[in-house]
Amino acid sequence: MLETIVKRERDFGTPASTSTEMISLTIDGTSVEVPAGTSVLRAAAIAGINIPKLCASDNLEASGSCRLCLVQIDGRRGYPASCTTPVEAGMVVHTETSKLHEIRRGVMELYISDHPLDCLTCPSNGDCELQDMAGVVGLRNVRYGYEGQNHLQDEVDASNPYFAYDPSKCIVCSRCVRACNEVQGTFALTIDGKGFASRIAAGQNEDFMDSDCVSCGACVQACPTSTLTEKTVIDMGQAEHSVITTCAYCGVGCAFKAEMKGDQVVRMVPWKDGQANRGHSCVKGRFAWGYATHKDRMLKPMIRKRIDEPWREVSWDEAIQYAASEIRRIQAKYGKDSVGGITSSRCTNEETYLVQKLVRAAFGTNNVDTCARVCHSPTGYGLKTTIGESAGTQTFDSVMFTDVVILMGANPSAAHPVFASRLKRRLREGAKLIVIDPRRIELVDSPHIKASYHLPVRPGTNTAVLTAMAHVIATEGLIDEAYVAERCETEAFEQWREFVSRPEHSPEATEAETGVPAADLRGAARLYATGGNGSIYYGLGVTEHSQGSTTVMAIANLAMATGNLGKEGVGVNPLRGQNNVQGSCDMGSFPHELPGYRHVSDDKVRGEFERDWGVKLQPEPGLRLPNMFDAAVSGSFKALYCQGEDIVQSDPNTQHVAAALRAMECIIIQDIFLNETAKYAHVFLPGSSFLEKDGTFTNAERRISRVRTVMKPLGGMADWEATCALSNALGYPMNYSHPSEIMDEIARLTPTFAGVSFSKIDAMGGSVQWPCNAEAPDGTPIMHVDQFVRGKGRFMLTKYVPSDERSTRKFPLLLTTGRILSQYNVGAQTRRTDNVHWHAEDRLEIHPHDAEDRGIRQGDMVAIQSRSGETVLRADVTERVQPGVVYTTFHFPESGANVVTTDSTDWATDCPEYKVTAIQARRVTEPSRWQEHWTDFSETQLGLLERRERENGQAATATPARDEKKPAPAPAPAMTSHD
Ligand code: SF4
Ligand code: SF4
Ligand code: SF4
Ligand code: FES
Repeated sequence: MLETIVKRERDFGTPASTSTEMISLTIDGTSVEVPAGTSVLRAAAIAGINIPKLCASDNLEASGSCRLCLVQIDGRRGYPASCTTPVEAGMVVHTETSKLHEIRRGVMELYISDHPLDCLTCPSNGDCELQDMAGVVGLRNVRYGYEGQNHLQDEVDASNPYFAYDPSKCIVCSRCVRACNEVQGTFALTIDGKGFASRIAAGQNEDFMDSDCVSCGACVQACPTSTLTEKTVIDMGQAEHSVITTCAYCGVGCAFKAEMKGDQVVRMVPWKDGQANRGHSCVKGRFAWGYATHKDRMLKPMIRKRIDEPWREVSWDEAIQYAASEIRRIQAKYGKDSVGGITSSRCTNEETYLVQKLVRAAFGTNNVDTCARVCHSPTGYGLKTTIGESAGTQTFDSVMFTDVVILMGANPSAAHPVFASRLKRRLREGAKLIVIDPRRIELVDSPHIKASYHLPVRPGTNTAVLTAMAHVIATEGLIDEAYVAERCETEAFEQWREFVSRPEHSPEATEAETGVPAADLRGAARLYATGGNGSIYYGLGVTEHSQGSTTVMAIANLAMATGNLGKEGVGVNPLRGQNNVQGSCDMGSFPHELPGYRHVSDDKVRGEFERDWGVKLQPEPGLRLPNMFDAAVSGSFKALYCQGEDIVQSDPNTQHVAAALRAMECIIIQDIFLNETAKYAHVFLPGSSFLEKDGTFTNAERRISRVRTVMKPLGGMADWEATCALSNALGYPMNYSHPSEIMDEIARLTPTFAGVSFSKIDAMGGSVQWPCNAEAPDGTPIMHVDQFVRGKGRFMLTKYVPSDERSTRKFPLLLTTGRILSQYNVGAQTRRTDNVHWHAEDRLEIHPHDAEDRGIRQGDMVAIQSRSGETVLRADVTERVQPGVVYTTFHFPESGANVVTTDSTDWATDCPEYKVTAIQARRVTEPSRWQEHWTDFSETQLGLLERRERENGQAATATPARDEKKPAPAPAPAMTSHD
C-alpha cells in the first residue's frame, strides 16, 4: 500500500448495495451471496469472475450502453447486460459461453472500426480499458474495415490547462458524463447528437474552459480510453511507481496516489480507498501540485543581519547556529519571554508538535501560537465550552444520512469541494438545505439543487439569527425534551430556554437588525427541528467575527436542543480551511494549551510533560499572535521562529503586522518560497512541500492520515529535522530518527492519541479518527454518542452584541472576505500553477445598485478604504452579493485585502473579525499608496535576493516546473464557485 508499482484499482463494475438482505446465486458454477440490489456484474466480481465491461464503473450508476458485459441466465431469454441486471435468489448465471464470446467480439469490432489504431503511440498505451477489452475478448480482425464513416479526424480540445479531450478516441460510454453528474455534481457534460453522430459536449458545445467545468478531473479518471487524458501523461508517459499520500490544501484531507516516474510526479490520482474523499478530488489536489518544483522554490539556507542587507547563502549548520545564537542573545538582553514561535497548519502533526515543544522546552516560554488563531480558534472555545471537545463531531460519510443541512458561513463548492460534491449528492437524493450566508453561494441554486431557505444574514449578526432560530424552536414546542433531560445540564438549559424565549429574540424583533425575513427564519428553524436528522456545517463566516465564539456556542445550543448530536447524519461540523488546522490545534499550538487541549496551568498535566521532556515548563499562558505583534511594536517582543505561515499576507491589518516585524531583531522563517513575511526575515530555512514530507495530517473529521515522502526534501533537510537541529543548537536535545518516533511521543503524552501510531494508521487502511485509545482502539468516527465528552451538555446564553464594525456615513459598505475554488489561501502555491488561468487577481464583488451609486462599472479600478487602510481592486459587478455588502478574496499579495481589515477580534479568542469591515468604495485610476509602497518594498527585497545569487555565482533554484516558462495567461472567466 505504501509504495507500489502503478496498477489500476480493482473495479467491481457497479456501486455496492447497502441492503442488509442477502441473496444467493450461482455464477459459472460458483455459489455467491451478496446484498439484495447488487448487480450480476458486481456479484461476479465479488466471486472473482471478471466479466468484460466498458461503460460500467463501481462509482457510477450503470447505464448498460456498451453491451460488453452480456451474460446468459438460466430460464431467461436473450443476453441481459450484467451491469443493469440485479441478482435474484437462485439465479444461475453463465458468463463465458461461445455465443457470448461471439457477441462481445462483435461489439469490440464495431468500436475498433471507429477508433485510431495508434496504440503504440497513444498516451494511454498500457492504461487503456478499450485495449484491455480487445485483448480479453480475443479480437483478431475487424470485418467492417476502417474506411467507413468515422470520427478519426475530430479536433482535440486542449483548452483546459491540465487535460485534453480527443474526441477521435471516444467510445461514447458516458462514464465522463455520469462522473460529472453523480460524483462531482456539476452537470457540465452531455451527449450531443444521436446514434453515430453522438459526441461528448462540454456546456453548450463549448471548449472545456468556456463551459461550467470546474476541472475536478472526475471525467478524466472515469474515461476508459485516451479521450480525456492528463497533459502530464501526454508529455511524460505512464508512471512506473506510486505512493499513497494526503492532499495539503484544504481540510477535507483527500487521499491521493502520487504516480511517479523516478522522482518526478506524473499525475495525482484520488485514491479510491481514501476514507475522506472516496476516490474524488478537486482541481487543486488533482492538478495544482507543480508549485513543488517551481523555480521560485528557496533551497538554500540564508542569513542577514538587517533586512536592508543582501542575503548570504550559508550552510545549514551556519544558519542554525546563527539562529540559535540570536535567540539566546535576545533572551539574555530582553528576557526569556521576548521570543516566540508560530506553528503551521500546512505542516504535519509531527512538525507542529516539535515547534511548540521547541518554544516551550528550548526557548522556555509559552509564546507559541498558530494560524488557527485567525480562523477556527472560536470553534475550539465554543465547542469545548458546550460539548467538551474542540472538534467536529462526524465523518464526511455521515452527510449521506442527513435529512436537513444548515450550511452557515461556508461555501464548500469553493473551499471544500469534495465535501460539496458529497453534500450535493445527498441533496439530490432529497435532503433539504438551509443556507445562512450574506452571499448567494453556489449551493443556493445550482444544477438539480435548490436550497429550501437562503437566509441572507447581514455581516456581523450571526448570533442574533441563531438565537432567533432557537426562539422559534423553544416557543413552538420543538425542543427534544427527552434528549435534553437525559443529556444536558438542567439549570443551564432552563436559563437558556427562558433567554431565547424572550420577545426581543423573536425573528420579527430581530429582522431589521439581521436583514433576514422573519417568515423565512421561522420556516428554516421549523425545518431543522422537525425534518429528521439535522446537521450543521459551518466555516469561517461563523468564526471570524467579534462574536465568533458566541455563534459557535449558539450552533451547539441548537444541535443539543433538537437532539442532533451523537449519531449518524447529525452533528456540528466545522469545515476546516487548511489541511492540518485541526492537527495544529490538537498538537498544543495555542499558548495556553499543551497537546490534547490541556491547560498549561494544570499542574498534573504539566508535570507529565516536564517529566517526559526533562525540563521545567512555565505555568502561565504565553502571548497570542496579536499580542506578539503589539508587544513587538511596543518593544518587548524581539524574535520569532515562524514555520510555514505567511502572517504578513494572511493576518489582519497588514501595516500593523509589518510594523511589528520591522521592530524585531531576529525573524527566522522556514518556508518553501520567499513569501511576504520572509521579506522581513533575518534567517531563512528552506522548508519542504507536502510531496517531501513524512508524517500525518488531521482533517476536519479528526481523521489522522499518513503523508508519505514522494520525493526527498529538495532543500536537503526535512522540516522536523531543521527544528531538531535548532533545538540542539539551543542546548535542548531533540533526537528522533523518524517522524514515527515523534508520533509515538505524542501518543504517550496525549490521551486522545494514546492508540495512534504509524503502524496503527496503516492497519486501519490509511487513517484513523481520534480519540483513538484504550476505550476506542479503532478510533471514533462519531463523537458524543452516549454522553458528551464533558459529561452533560451545557447550554450557553448567546447575547447578541453588535460589532464595532458597523456601516456609517463615512464607511457605508460592509466588506466580507473568502476564497475561490481555483486559488488557495494566500495563493503561494496555487499562484504558481496553471490555476491562474481561472483567477489571476483578487476582485471586488459589488452589487449593481452600489456600483451604480458610485459610477463603478465592471472591470473598473475601485479603491476600498477602511479605518485601517486603503487598497485598490478591479470591480466585479454582481448580484451574488446583497446591496450594502462587498466581497473579495485574499489570494494575491498585491491586492492587500488585509490592508483594509481591522484589528477587531472575537471577544474570547482574539480571532480577527475578517468577515466584517466597514468600508467606502470609489472609482480610481491608480493603485493605493500602500500598493505603491508594497511594490517598492518587494522589488527591493527581490533585488537583495538577486544580489545574493550573483555573489554566489549560482541560482538556488529548483528543477524548473514543466510549464513554468509559459507566459502568464490572460485571465479567463472565474469558475462559477466562489467563497
Ligand atoms: S473536470 Fe469535473 S467538472 Fe469538468 S467536465 Fe470533468 S467531471 Fe465535470
Ligand atoms: S470521453 Fe471517455 S468516458 Fe466520455 S464517453 Fe468518451 S470514452 Fe467514454
Ligand atoms: S477537496 Fe481539499 S483536500 Fe481534497 S483535493 Fe481539493 S483541496 Fe485537496
Ligand atoms: S458494462 Fe454493462 S453494458 Fe457496458
